[in-house]
Order: sequence, then C-alpha cells, then structure tokens
Amino acid sequence: STPLRLGIAGLGTVGSSVLRLLAGNRSTASTRAGRPIVVTAVSARDRTRDRGVDLSEVAFHADPVDLARDPNVDVVVELIGGASGAAEAVVRAALDLGKPVVTANKALLARHGVELARLAEDRGVALAFEAAVAGGIPVIKTLKESLAGNRISRVYGILNGTCNYILTRMERESLTFDVCLRDAQALGYAEADPTFDVEGYDTAHKLSILASLAFGTEIDADAIYVEGISSITLADILAADELGYRIKLLGIARLTETGVEARVHPTMVPKSSAVARTDGVLNAVALDGDAVGEIVLVGPGAGGNATASSVIADVVDVARGGVIPAFGRPTAQLEPYVRAEIQTH
Ligand code: HSE
Repeated sequence: STPLRLGIAGLGTVGSSVLRLLAGNRSTASTRAGRPIVVTAVSARDRTRDRGVDLSEVAFHADPVDLARDPNVDVVVELIGGASGAAEAVVRAALDLGKPVVTANKALLARHGVELARLAEDRGVALAFEAAVAGGIPVIKTLKESLAGNRISRVYGILNGTCNYILTRMERESLTFDVCLRDAQALGYAEADPTFDVEGYDTAHKLSILASLAFGTEIDADAIYVEGISSITLADILAADELGYRIKLLGIARLTETGVEARVHPTMVPKSSAVARTDGVLNAVALDGDAVGEIVLVGPGAGGNATASSVIADVVDVARGGVIPAFGRPTAQLEPYVRAEIQTH
C-alpha cells in the first residue's frame, strides 16, 4: 500500500527519538498503520550532529517551510517548539497546503490552537498534538475520544516533568534547586529555555490546551494565574512533609457557574493522594467526568522516547486517516462558550 511520507521539522531531543523509534520499530508502527511509514525529509539547525540514524537518503531543508512544500512530504511533524517563528511558519504552511500536521508544540497551541484547528478543518486535514501535553500520557485522546460522553467539570494535575523531577530530588536527596535543574536539562526534560518550566508557563500552556478540550472553549494562556517553583526551598518541602503533605506544581482548571477558573501554582497535596505519589519526571492528570467520575492518568511527562511515543501514535492515526477534530466545531458544540476568568487562590 501507499507509504506515508513524513517530514520532520526539528531534530532535538524529541525529533531524534522519533527518528530512532521509527527506524527501529518501523514495522510496528507501519503494521499498526497498515502501510509503510517513512521519513523522507528533515529540517534542523545543525545538519551534521549524529542522531543515531542514517539520514543519507533523507532530504535536508535548511528552512522548515521548504520542508512543508517538499512534494515528497505528505505529513509534517513539527518538533521545533516555540509559540512563533519557524514553528508557526511551518505549521501554517503545511496546513495551507492541505498537509496534516503532528506537533508537540504546547506554546504554539496555547496561543493559536483554536485558530490552527479551524484552518486544519477548513482544509480537511488533521492537526494532532498528543505529545504537546504530559509527554507520553495519552490524555488528549482520552479527552477527545474515551470521555466523549462526559461533561468534564475539572482537570488538574502535574503537567511539567522538569518541576516534578526537581521537587522530588530536592525532597529525597536534600539537593539544591540548581543542581536538580541542571540534571533535568542533561536528561532532556527541560525546555530550551528552562524558565518556561520552573516559572510555570509550560504548565499554563498545557493547562490551556486541556481546558479548551475539556470545556469546549478557548482559554487564553496569558489569562491563567501562574506561579512557579523557583522560590520553593528545602525548608518549605520539609515543613510540608511534617504536616503530611508534599509540594507539587499543579495546573488546575474548573468549570464554575461564572466561567472557567484556571491557575498554576505550587500546592500542598496530602501524601496519600495519587498526585502526591507521582514522583520524578512522571506527570499525573486527573479528570472529573459526570458519567465516569474521576480518572487519574500517570506516566512519563517528558523525555525523548516518552514524548516520541505520543508523536508516533498521532502519525499512525494520520496514516489510518482517522484523527478526530480538535478544538473546532465538534467540541464547540459540547459546551456553551464560557469566558475564561481568573480566580486566584
Ligand atoms: N519541559 C517539559 C517538561 C517537556 O518538563 O514537562 C514536556 O512537555
């Protein structure tokens, strides 16, 4: 059957993992998809760095927009990151040309997600972003598909692997914040600019995506109350411990009578809770549905392979021709439009 030809824009931690997993597991993803999945083009700042796979047969584009235009590319996988610039340009170019896009870019989706989803729907192609929220945890599919029969009233959880890794190691090993952050960077968990992680913006981006899907509305990430973990000390962690709590950076969104309440801040959670027991780079996402009750999904929230797992799942969906529309008309009908409003804690 016809191969699905991928163009991958961005070969950092996640992009390199996608390349390696597709090379190593090609038959698995292809078998699941029912057709061969092949990488025909890439785009990256550094052309020569060794990514552990042979790229000699793969076209290289210095400008990612040229990758979108490459006639041998059917689907664009955007792993550049950032809310604007090259990432935005390649996603818009691909959708404009009627090519499906798979992206892990939460900053871009938090800012332009609804608009890009409408563009994708107008062109009749998929915009898929399982990897944009909580790394390897299949929370986007869960919200769009598995919980489609529920009215969701609340979504909250640990949405940043870097922060959870730092807080866990500070508590367990009495290490300083800076040492833990450096290790998180070395392990490929942190954003290119780790301020996004530790100051809570990355969590806010992911929360706005989850809240948009959960409540069928548009949440402006800039309107979310955000407080990060950079001022949390070991003394704070130990004080919470004595009282029977752990400190976690949570993103919390609730549907209230007046609108959506959305906030990100360090929170004391009882040690017995599922969220408190989520350690290291793991994330936890709790969803409250009127039919199902509460569901908590726990799994790796960052890292190359875990995030690539979600990217490849989206690629397989595209190959099967079956990505469900994201923020557009179908979800908008589920809930009346509600205004995002801030209620600080
Ligand atoms: N920097 C992010 C994190 C990567 O630490 O969770 C996954 O989005």
